[in-house]
Amino acid sequence: MLTKYTFGTPFDTQAVTAQVREGENCPFFEISRGEGSLSFRCPLAERDIVYGLGETMGGINKRGGRYVSFNTDNMRHVTGMPSMYGSHNFLVIDGAKPFGAFFDTPARVVFEVDFEGSGQVYVRCESEDVALYTVEGESAYAIVRQFLAAIGRSFIPPLWAFGFGQSRWGYKDERDIRTVADRYAAAGMPLDYICMDIDYMERYKDFTVNKKRFPDLSAFAAEMKGRGIRLVPIVDAGIKAEPGDETYEEGVREDYFCKNLEGKYFRAAVWPGMTHFPDFFRPEVRAWFGAKYKVYTDCGIEGFWNDMNEPSIFFSEYTRGKLRGRNCGDPLYRGNAFLSDYKSFYHTIGGKEVLHYDVHNAFGGNMTRASCEGLEKLLDKRFLLFSRASYIGAHRYGGIWTGDNTSKWEHLRQNVLHMPSLNMCGFLYSGADTGGFSGRATRELLLRWLAFSVYTPLMRNHCMKYMRRQECYRFGKKEEFRSLLALRYRLLPYIYSEFVKAALSSDMYMKPLAFGYPQDERARRIEDQLLVGDSLMVAPVLEKGAKGRTVYLPEAMTQVRWTGETFKTLSVPAGERFVEVPLGEAVFFIRRGRLLPVGGACMHTGEADLSAVTLLGDGEEYAQYIDDGTTRDVRAENIRILKRR
Ligand code: GLC
Repeated sequence: MLTKYTFGTPFDTQAVTAQVREGENCPFFEISRGEGSLSFRCPLAERDIVYGLGETMGGINKRGGRYVSFNTDNMRHVTGMPSMYGSHNFLVIDGAKPFGAFFDTPARVVFEVDFEGSGQVYVRCESEDVALYTVEGESAYAIVRQFLAAIGRSFIPPLWAFGFGQSRWGYKDERDIRTVADRYAAAGMPLDYICMDIDYMERYKDFTVNKKRFPDLSAFAAEMKGRGIRLVPIVDAGIKAEPGDETYEEGVREDYFCKNLEGKYFRAAVWPGMTHFPDFFRPEVRAWFGAKYKVYTDCGIEGFWNDMNEPSIFFSEYTRGKLRGRNCGDPLYRGNAFLSDYKSFYHTIGGKEVLHYDVHNAFGGNMTRASCEGLEKLLDKRFLLFSRASYIGAHRYGGIWTGDNTSKWEHLRQNVLHMPSLNMCGFLYSGADTGGFSGRATRELLLRWLAFSVYTPLMRNHCMKYMRRQECYRFGKKEEFRSLLALRYRLLPYIYSEFVKAALSSDMYMKPLAFGYPQDERARRIEDQLLVGDSLMVAPVLEKGAKGRTVYLPEAMTQVRWTGETFKTLSVPAGERFVEVPLGEAVFFIRRGRLLPVGGACMHTGEADLSAVTLLGDGEEYAQYIDDGTTRDVRAENIRILKRR
């Protein structure tokens, strides 16, 4: 049961799509009003678990942490870093009487969850205008499902977006990209898409293509598609402030950009140099920006990633003087935007001027919405779209990736921890930069990371310019990489089916073990094993040098060992066991009474036959969602029941 409590005049973020009954006095929190703020407190019992908060550093259980919803481009993802790229203000307090709470405000929000042993949840919204939604239900899982139903169906990309993608900031022309495709093919490794980072553009300007590097993008996209590989270009939030640039000229003519205190267009430096930010809160601006993707869709392109939409600001005319040394001319320079930047430009929302700072967290999500709505008009089929910045509600328009991580074991672990928390907030289509964005990926780390990414909807190897090249074909003993990529494709009938079913039924695709085994006190505390869909449990190896790992089984299961060639099954009892997992192999578990369909090997999703499956596990039947992989008409009727013979 959901109840809405309204404080002041909340900004309509459109995060919640359901009709929710209004309540008067919220029984869950002690509420205090400050000047320009609202604070909420509730006590926590010793054994309560707190879930949620989407993209935040830390565990699945948020206890002990301080988290700040304030979309931030900061690549130092260290423990305790308060803000990441997205703001997902939903949490569930799983205690004697579990409940969920969504603090719906695009303003900055601080969450302290048993921080420094306070024994309470403390939430401080930097706004007096907040819509608080509370959710009551039998269990944390039931509460999450009600919340997912209330915020609307998650974005569903096409089947090819569940294939493997290769990316690198630094691929600059057709030749680089063709080489990647050739080398993957030569290594016998499947591939579905290659991302095009900012170097494809003319001096980093959105909606332009560098003609020297890509003389005929349509022909090139067609050539690649003929090989089963899609191109996925990046689109950044800022439009270069340069007379003569078509997008800039249109934006100025129509008055579509955000303005500063003096009523002039706000100027902030990002990759292209000085840019203006489209005022994505205005429907007409969204429609204009979304329609600009025609430049690419006309070339046969069906997938995009939106970036720098926190918005990331390297410096502005307000902060330039305050920065020492480097500026945007240096490609490695990443300044943190100063709060004064976010307090120095405005949006026009419903005819009123609104300070960016007050609605900051909803900016990026509105860019995703613009792109999605534009692409829905431009294409008659599903498309891939994922973004960096987000707010709850944006999950209906696109997926997200978790930004600029590092080639570190902790970040592989963080990827595991992020997935269920993101799912609770609607972001089903997500994943991390496999192998790590910055730093130096070792062969072992990349293999272990791939062995986990096999289960994340977005499975993309992405890496930063100047860092070690980390395409899978660059390392020795290629068969180990081949094996893990092959596993992804063999699991596609299951991954795709479970993902779409989860989206259609307001469910999570990746869950904490606790949601499957709420009565099992030990399972409730496990954070490094996840449920993937309804049948599968994964226990990734997360340590350097490990030969395998200890796995806890809350019930007897079917252990499946993927050797690179075959699936070897073994019935294993409940309890703890050490499982050896050599590099390049994978071990996962099928829950009792469940089945898991696996398909045949293929080199890209275009070759995949989702209907030709073998069933593993000891269950009786499996409900498989199946369609052509591109139809917009994603309906529960597309389910067929498979029975074990
Ligand atoms: C940002 C993105 C990263 C991208 C880079 C260059 O740092 O997060 O993925 O490669 O910009 O566009």
